[in-house]
Amino acid sequence: MKILAIESSCDETAAAVVEDGRRIISSVVASQVDEHKLYGGVVPEIASRRHCESIVAVVDEALEKAKCSYEDLQAISVTYAPGLIGALLVGVNYAKGLSLATGLPVVPVHHLRSHIASNYLCHPELEPPFLCLVVSGGHSHIVMVEDYTKMKIIGKTRDDAAGEAFDKAARTMGMPYPGGIHLDAVAESGDENAFKLPRPVVQGSPYDFSFSGLKTAVINLIHNASQKGESLPVEDLSASFRKAVVDCLTDNTMKAACDFSANTIVLAGGVSANTLLRRNMLKLCDEKGIKLYMPDKSLCGDNAAMVGSQGYYEYLSGNVADLSLNAYATMSIEKG
Ligand code: KG4
Ligand code: ZN
Repeated sequence: MKILAIESSCDETAAAVVEDGRRIISSVVASQVDEHKLYGGVVPEIASRRHCESIVAVVDEALEKAKCSYEDLQAISVTYAPGLIGALLVGVNYAKGLSLATGLPVVPVHHLRSHIASNYLCHPELEPPFLCLVVSGGHSHIVMVEDYTKMKIIGKTRDDAAGEAFDKAARTMGMPYPGGIHLDAVAESGDENAFKLPRPVVQGSPYDFSFSGLKTAVINLIHNASQKGESLPVEDLSASFRKAVVDCLTDNTMKAACDFSANTIVLAGGVSANTLLRRNMLKLCDEKGIKLYMPDKSLCGDNAAMVGSQGYYEYLSGNVADLSLNAYATMSIEKG
């Protein structure tokens, strides 16, 4: 069964054709990052406008690369929540227009569920149940994936998402948006013990995260030094900050795996591309005899192939929308 998938929740306009939830036939991603970089972050109104301009060409290219026409497809899956509302609406309305024109059903897909599904595209043997750490620019969750469309939140961030914390720390260090990937690269040559940074815990909620104090701690270090006319070694600062964020993520995830007797852990979301997170999770899971799955780095960020994968499982579970489908800026992954 072939699904056309559309993603427009943030600053990437993407389309893909995916077969049976597991095989990418084509995948096209048009990134707006160079334009948002000028402003140090995503400007929602610009994002919506660029999606409007790109979506027709991106969808056509995905179909062309897959050598598919609409007769070869069984459904159109689209990201409908959570994300920037104006951006989401472009994808949702385009999918509804295509549905009206072709008679194909529309399958609404939750953005974080699709990040998890990026793993199904890389690991044919992976099936629920498993414990998943989903870490992106907007969310940081530990989720029990009981089935393809049944999820339970075990822990989540109380303030900033991990990606957001990486981006804000990186921006203060003078790196371009999105800074997470730059900070990660710079940290590789730094000393992670050079600066003492906190590992915040949420009292009474052992699986929840809190990154805003950690982010403020590193920003204060930088500002205090600059007030004295000093500058701090950016490699060491990046390495110390990255280690602190990754420690929080791995500590809570491993604790949840132990408490819930999980023998499989899955990583997902943009931050799952982080070099230290991948390295440390591999080591910790190896020590505990837990199987670890991570998406290929090329599928960690936003793309439509993952929407085609999750869309397949949503379709099988009867999750099909009509033309009254709306987009939502927030939505729990449990409701999906
Ligand atoms: O999942 P994603 O592409 O978009 C959202 O759904 O938010 O995640 C983007 C986030 C950004 O904050 C970006 O800086 C972060 O993922 N990111 C990284 C790395 N690559 C991307 N953070 C740390 N290390 C990386 N290598
Ligand atoms: Zn994302």
